[in-house]
Amino acid sequence: MTTTTLVAPISLSNDLLTGAEWSPAHTRELLQLSADVKARPGRYASTLSGKFIALIFEKPSLRTRVTFEVGIQSMGGSVVFLDHTQASASLGARESIADVARNLERWVQGIVARVYHQRVLEEMAANANIPVINALSDKFHPCQALADFFTLEEKFGALRGFKLAYVGDGNNVCNSLIYLAARLGVHLRIATPAEYAPSPEVVADGKRVARETKAKIEVMTDPREAVSGAMAVYTDSWTSMGFEAEEKVRSAVFQPYQVNVELMSLAAPDAVFMHCLPAHRGCEVTPEVLDGPQSVVLDQSENRMYVQKAILHTLF
Ligand code: CP
Ligand code: NVA
Repeated sequence: MTTTTLVAPISLSNDLLTGAEWSPAHTRELLQLSADVKARPGRYASTLSGKFIALIFEKPSLRTRVTFEVGIQSMGGSVVFLDHTQASASLGARESIADVARNLERWVQGIVARVYHQRVLEEMAANANIPVINALSDKFHPCQALADFFTLEEKFGALRGFKLAYVGDGNNVCNSLIYLAARLGVHLRIATPAEYAPSPEVVADGKRVARETKAKIEVMTDPREAVSGAMAVYTDSWTSMGFEAEEKVRSAVFQPYQVNVELMSLAAPDAVFMHCLPAHRGCEVTPEVLDGPQSVVLDQSENRMYVQKAILHTLF
């Protein structure tokens, strides 16, 4: 991929709530900017100088929290962490989401939030005239998907026509992969049990954008068909945060979707294995694959930081 000298902020929507806000051209520019952030971090050392960003987390996190905290501070900004992980401190319980947002905008210059319900992010964005970034919701995880495509572009070059297979739960990560695959011209094949397919609205949007970008978005139920010839195979937890009550049922339904050596053998010989982490060895992926030579999961984790810094540079 080309590392450009792109340092001027790209003009985009003021928030990143889903990953569908940006045009195909802007999405590609964001990946180019991420490469520049990675290659020349010094250029971005004062982007957030004097700025405070609230990190609101209703769910646990390792990667997202650390990469935002380190990323923001490395750009000269400061973080205010608001821990809402205890049920007793759930957002909207003590005061309305709108009131939280209206107060925050008086003190901080941006909000990064991990929430149970996408509508909470939308309500915050509607009530605070500062950028709101989705750090994972029940529906989307755009920072993750952007880092994933940045990782693939680093390893394989241009993404147009790239064959990516996603196997397992049609969840938040899957929805964001669809939005971004469509915008980046990727051929994405998704295999899930029929009752755990990704959001039909997201698939419809992906197919609409795909007509313009020559991407291809296919949804099926057979994991072998999805993985066949793929250059990357992606999976995620069978039970996402917030769905713990369904864990037993899910473990049984998703068993045929486990990514193991046998399933990986159907992919292209130099295919990579991807996972947003945290992973569950022996469930959605076997240890041989997760910890094996094809795995790029730690590159995905590392790249979260550069992509998020590019997002911050763009929105601030
Ligand atoms: N992939 C990801 O978002 O990890 P965390 O839940 O640890 O933030
Ligand atoms: N789908 C997972 C992703 C975790 C980063 C979840 O929502 O729990």
